[in-house]
Amino acid sequence: LYGASRRNSAGVNLADRAARAQLATAIAEAAARDWVSQPMLGGEASPGNPVFRDCHDPSHPGRVVGRATDASAEDVDRALDIAREFAPTWDATPADDRADALDRAADLFEEHLPEFMALCAREAGKTVNDAVAEVREAVDFLRYYAHGAREQFSQPVQLPGPTGESNALSLHGRGVFACISPWNFPLAIFTGQVSAALAAGNAVIAKPAEQTPLVAARAVELLYQAGIPHAALQYLPGEGAVVGARLTRDDRVDGVAFTGSTETARLINRSLAARESALATLVAETGGQNAMLVDSTALPEQVVKDVIGSAFLSAGQRCSALRVLFLQKDIADHVLDMLAGAMDELSIGDPALLSTDIGPVIDTDALAMLQAHAERMATEGRLVARAPLDPQLQGHFFAPCAFEIDDINRLGREVFGPILHVVRYRARDLDQVVDAINGTGYGLTLGVHSRNEDTQARIASRVRVGNCYINRTMTGAVVGVQPFGGERLSGTGPKAGGPHYLARFATERTLTINT
Ligand code: SER
Repeated sequence: LYGASRRNSAGVNLADRAARAQLATAIAEAAARDWVSQPMLGGEASPGNPVFRDCHDPSHPGRVVGRATDASAEDVDRALDIAREFAPTWDATPADDRADALDRAADLFEEHLPEFMALCAREAGKTVNDAVAEVREAVDFLRYYAHGAREQFSQPVQLPGPTGESNALSLHGRGVFACISPWNFPLAIFTGQVSAALAAGNAVIAKPAEQTPLVAARAVELLYQAGIPHAALQYLPGEGAVVGARLTRDDRVDGVAFTGSTETARLINRSLAARESALATLVAETGGQNAMLVDSTALPEQVVKDVIGSAFLSAGQRCSALRVLFLQKDIADHVLDMLAGAMDELSIGDPALLSTDIGPVIDTDALAMLQAHAERMATEGRLVARAPLDPQLQGHFFAPCAFEIDDINRLGREVFGPILHVVRYRARDLDQVVDAINGTGYGLTLGVHSRNEDTQARIASRVRVGNCYINRTMTGAVVGVQPFGGERLSGTGPKAGGPHYLARFATERTLTINT
């Protein structure tokens, strides 16, 4: 499935001075525009809840990036009616035509890279590198699922049967899919969910995170421009507890794609299960308590670089990010000394500057939650290092920090941001450490740093996570290369950017004809 004939997006070469200057001008122009998000029903903007609120830049809360209004109860109702009515038509549209529209959207997204980068920086606090990666990932999802629609949905698979009987298996949209996406990948995950559901022949209701509607609204405009029919994609921004909750208890929804917290995924599951209508599908990608194991054969310089990349870049606001670093006792002091030195060099500030390593966290709630957790860790554990933070910074900035603790079980649920926990272990306890990692109940990513192939194999075969990375960073899964997603508390599967994803958005039909 989805073989070599597909290429991922090239992105931009930030090492090229001229390209960088051109990009900076385009980003500055885009950032100065007055961006607006409001519900889109059948391609028409709806006033929604007619009070617009300002969307603020998390790195500079006095700066207004745009204005947004939320979907009303009537908008949700009307969107579901439109989607319900159009779903059979979209499903009957040849898969190749659906795929062509998604491919055109991929081209348009690439053409609009600077404005998406500006929005990702200003609305979501993404650094330049993260913003490029974000647009690339969105483009890759569009092309990957377009490719998948052509491969899996355009022709039924003929199956064997006795003489005089033909058997064929075909894939179809389930009907109406609600796609509920997070703020940490406001373009990539939004686009990934929506494009998969559309590719599989569903009418889609898209609800972005309340923190990041502007980038999502722009994506919807370009999807329409690319030829996605207005009735196939309804855009309903708003609060999860209001718009999301209305969607998931409505009988007209046949499936939900959700990325966010495990707690919200449970609420959605309950809400879907309580309905009287047809049984719905839930595709949920949730959090992790992701660990990295480092033994005494690892290269300390590489470990430090990959710990910084996995735990602190993107302000730790990735579900794949490293939260608990297990260091073999013999090398722990040396690695922690080097880590403290490297953390001292981190530059935290305006995400639009190329020199910035780490931007802001998303909002004041996130900041308060991280500050409270760091205070708790300072009393329960030992502070190893804290990156320097310029006190003049105005935004929601949090200095990355690392604490040594003695037991992973103390942590409880995931804390989403740049706080690293460090635990020392004895070489002979390796299996128990892996069992403790499994014992958290989460199963998203694991990093391993070891030059010992037996150790690598032993850990990989024992750990129950969706994505295991050996001797590299444990973030930044690439579409079609590292299909991404976890198990148990970390998600239902299937993996985004993998060959089995689209099938979960579809229903299968077998046709048997006695000729
Ligand atoms: N897909 C992202 C990554 O791999 C996480 O959300 O980092």
